[in-house]
Amino acid sequence: MAVLVTGGTGYIGSHTVVDLLEHNYDVVIVDNYVNSKPEVLNRIFKITGKKPRFYEIDVCNEQGLRTVFEKEKITDVIHFAGLKSVGESTQKPGLYYSNNIGSSLTLLKLMHEFNVKNIVFSSSATVYGVPDHVPLKEDDNIGGCTNPYGETKLDIEYILKYEAEQHKDMNIAILRYFNPIGAHKSGLIGEDPQGIPNNLMPYITQVAVGKRDHLNVFGSDYKTHDGTGVRDYIHVVDLASGHLAALRKLEEKPGLVIYNLGTGTGTSVLDLVNAFEKANNIKVPYVICDRRPGDVDENYADATKAFKEMGWKAKLNIVDACRDSWNWQKNNPKGYDK
Ligand code: NAD
Ligand code: UD1
Repeated sequence: MAVLVTGGTGYIGSHTVVDLLEHNYDVVIVDNYVNSKPEVLNRIFKITGKKPRFYEIDVCNEQGLRTVFEKEKITDVIHFAGLKSVGESTQKPGLYYSNNIGSSLTLLKLMHEFNVKNIVFSSSATVYGVPDHVPLKEDDNIGGCTNPYGETKLDIEYILKYEAEQHKDMNIAILRYFNPIGAHKSGLIGEDPQGIPNNLMPYITQVAVGKRDHLNVFGSDYKTHDGTGVRDYIHVVDLASGHLAALRKLEEKPGLVIYNLGTGTGTSVLDLVNAFEKANNIKVPYVICDRRPGDVDENYADATKAFKEMGWKAKLNIVDACRDSWNWQKNNPKGYDK
């Protein structure tokens, strides 16, 4: 009776594994460390006092993954494993298609072989493409993604919809994450990007810790209250609890369900910088520069469906997330590297 967590040593996966262990789930992680470190497992143990079983395997490796299904009594899967860098995906589209879609197909094949019915999938608000309105609801149009990363998420959503049509006994939760930030309150696990961060919060914390000189604010002429881009920043601990809510939902055998996991509140780049400065009493120098290609004015969730159907909603706010991101960064200036 175990939950298989692919990508369980990654940023969102590790926070979800902590929550699962704290709720007494039996957890099995599969990760190939392409974007995470073994040290994460020690940190999970420090927080929970528990050691999930771990297999260093590429989810695309069918034979390797089969050994996990043979050894473990898997009842549910949470599929985080995937590559997530938008910029890299435009340079290496083939890698993104083969890794993200390939891993999902291999996993589904083995789930059928071993009669595993329940899967929670990490999708993204990126599937909404360039929104013509906000807040975004689950039945709004999807498509029009501007990069291969987003396309892989969209394609996997379609694959899962066809699976659900074909296999009426399968239960599938597609979770569309908005912008995860923050870290576990212990400061022991958090986001550990390789190289120059693409995303806003890790960039802010690296400026705060002195690793980078200033933040580049990409554009100040968006149609938003202060001209900078508006997003829905959700604390990663809230996001993690959304996965436990989804697992409980799947016990009701709903077939296919889709939920936005966001807060429902839009926050601009400058709002987030101000919140960070206030929460931590640290200055974050910034320079306004050109827009980043592909960015949209505003993107935030209508998160009411997840509350109505799963009883889940975000409890933490951006000030909590700013405090916890900083706590993680200052205690681990080099991330998981000693
Ligand atoms: P992450 O890179 O920190 O975690 C992903 C984990 O998957 C890593 O530990 C990596 O080593 C592992 N992995 C990748 N390919 C693998 C493979 N073939 N076999 C085994 N392990 C593999 O990313 P994250 O931020 O935790 O994101 C988790 C999931 O959520 C991803 O699918 C991502 O696309 C999706 N998502 C993330 C965000 C975000 O902003 N972080 C937003 C929307 C959706
Ligand atoms: C990006 C990805 C999206 C992915 C998500 C989570 C793009 C176009 N979109 O979303 O597909 O699902 O990350 O991984 O890359 N910003 C700055 N300076 C920075 C970094 C960001 O001003 O150094 C601004 C951006 O212009 C944006 C906001 O901060 O307005 C948030 O950016 P980011 O954290 O990269 O997330 P998204 O662009 O929403």
